[in-house]
Amino acid sequence: MKIAVLPGDGIGPEIVAQAVKVLEALRSDGLKIEMEHAHIGGAGYDAAQDPLPEATLKLAQESDAVLLGAVGGYQYDNLPRPMRPEQGLLRIRKGLGLFANLRPAMVYPELVNSSSLKPELVSGLDIMILRELTGDIYFGQPRGIRTLDNGERQGFDTMHYSESEIRRVAHVGFQIAMKRNKKMCSVDKANVLDTSMFWREIVTEVAKEYPEVELSHMYVDNAAMQLVRAPKQFDVILTGNIFGDILSDEASMLTGSIGMLPSASLDANNKGLYEPCHGSAPDIAGKDIANPLATILSVAMMMRYTFAREDIAQRIETAVRKTLQQGLRTGDIAEAGMPKIGCKAMGDAVVAAL
Ligand code: IPM
Ligand code: MG
Repeated sequence: MKIAVLPGDGIGPEIVAQAVKVLEALRSDGLKIEMEHAHIGGAGYDAAQDPLPEATLKLAQESDAVLLGAVGGYQYDNLPRPMRPEQGLLRIRKGLGLFANLRPAMVYPELVNSSSLKPELVSGLDIMILRELTGDIYFGQPRGIRTLDNGERQGFDTMHYSESEIRRVAHVGFQIAMKRNKKMCSVDKANVLDTSMFWREIVTEVAKEYPEVELSHMYVDNAAMQLVRAPKQFDVILTGNIFGDILSDEASMLTGSIGMLPSASLDANNKGLYEPCHGSAPDIAGKDIANPLATILSVAMMMRYTFAREDIAQRIETAVRKTLQQGLRTGDIAEAGMPKIGCKAMGDAVVAAL
């Protein structure tokens, strides 16, 4: 298992260090794991004046999987857009062809009271958001800021989805649904956007190959509302890049903390990049208070999707559960009055439970 480790910025290095401890524990148990570190994001800019240095992309291309922390920091906010840390992330996603982004939102029974919703609305919640990751308005050309004939300046972006892009992610969605409860909701804005009308047409067509899956469609504004009204109605949510960006942050809050949400971004051959859904949280970086569980759970997803080791994935997930059952909490998931532990201590506890 050749893994590229890209800690990135902010809390990235500290949370990734905990996930690396988990990988090292698995290695001392006999798994053949090879890890190599490289820079991305602001760290890439600092080291090589590029948020995705060539050496990093090359290492990622030569590895079976990538473990990533997070990118971004205040000191980079005023750089020109191509140099900004986020570009490193967008370029590695595009460069590796990682079009299928899986963001599971699961509520652990131990954390049901940390959710921003009432326990009865979220207890037992288990949603899989599948976000298309390499198309849409994120990558559409042309884009920029231009001056119109009347002298006024205008910002513009282009939203588009080609048929093949929609088809391949729809197939992934139906295949995931087949392994779960055979229910998929495709989210779009087909009442306004042509791109969405086309998206709906193609998803409906692909559905014919999966007659056992019950497909529904929902407008994104309604989906945002339904996620906080009755989230348990959802099983698999399939959506485009920008809607998926927004809905997955919303869904994370149902689970108690965005610090609990892992993700997998896969190419057509299950090569993947694994990262927590949260950002680099520069305000708490270096204080040893970040929650490493989303990153550790991302390693579980890596074992499941890239290495087809469901047994190890479950072993890691069980270790995380045990740690929570022991009452161990970082600040973001601690209920009032509960003692809090730091990032490192949480990583150690998971390794011990493993
Ligand atoms: C995410 C993030 C990224 C995105 C940013 C950091 C570019 O918000 O992974 O959801 O918008 O995709
Ligand atoms: Mg986001």
